[in-house]
Amino acid sequence: MSTFTIDTATSRATPSPVPGKRMTAPALRARKVDGSTAEPIVMLTAYTMRMAQLLDPHCEMLLVGDSLGQVIYGLPSTIPVTLEMMCAHGAAVVRGSWHALVAVDMPFGSYEQSPEQAFANASRILKETGCAAVKLEGGAAMAPTVEFLVQRGIPVIGHVGLTPQAVNTLGGYGARGRQEQEKRKILFDARTIDAAGAFCIVVEGVLEELADEITSAVSVPVIGIGASANCDGQVLVTDDMLGLFERTPRFVKRYDDLATRIGEAAQAYAEEVRRRRFPTADQTYRSKA
Ligand code: KIV
Repeated sequence: MSTFTIDTATSRATPSPVPGKRMTAPALRARKVDGSTAEPIVMLTAYTMRMAQLLDPHCEMLLVGDSLGQVIYGLPSTIPVTLEMMCAHGAAVVRGSWHALVAVDMPFGSYEQSPEQAFANASRILKETGCAAVKLEGGAAMAPTVEFLVQRGIPVIGHVGLTPQAVNTLGGYGARGRQEQEKRKILFDARTIDAAGAFCIVVEGVLEELADEITSAVSVPVIGIGASANCDGQVLVTDDMLGLFERTPRFVKRYDDLATRIGEAAQAYAEEVRRRRFPTADQTYRSKA
């Protein structure tokens, strides 16, 4: 049983959720049986407490992605994202959730040097956030690191295909695996990360046939983003699927148009303030007598 509760003493509290059992890495891993997953796994990104509260009932996993670099901080890529940013947002998302497994991305530069460096930083993420897993990008070269972490008690999500932290070597964010050689490498990467003990693998930005091949080839659930409907689960950047940005990758489906709705709300507020229509008596403190 989770002992998790939201502090209702804060000024913007929502009712405490009923504490329940949080999703675990072994339970998610066990969703894939004999190569198939009966019900696809639902994963979305979350970076803040309130968004975590809203998404949590609908997701098996919440990912505190390093995409927060662009989405929250307006950075040009995920490269400048720091461990401190990931820990602060990771802790907020854990505070706002009670059902989903929360996984936190290891930022660029925090794990590539050695398995020991990765363990020091991954354990810090787990201690400071309360999350239950980390995600790291990379294929065969990262397999010894994945194994090192898993054998020391840190559940790991792999991430192969388009790996945004490698944008400078990849040369952009286009779909991967178009050439036979690269296709074989990505398949090999996924198999190696599976063998190293990751409990699931994110496959990003690859041709559908390659995503299908990876999903059949590995024993753990494959979570697709810009991959294939046949993956064992799907993940999207929440702000993309809510329509907060004008431009999004082709693989994003917009389930809302929040950018327009927020703009309209701000415009309505601005007009009422300028005409002294806000605040009204309803929003004003007056003496009771
Ligand atoms: O950083 C992120 O949001 C991610 C997802 C796109 C999978 O890694």
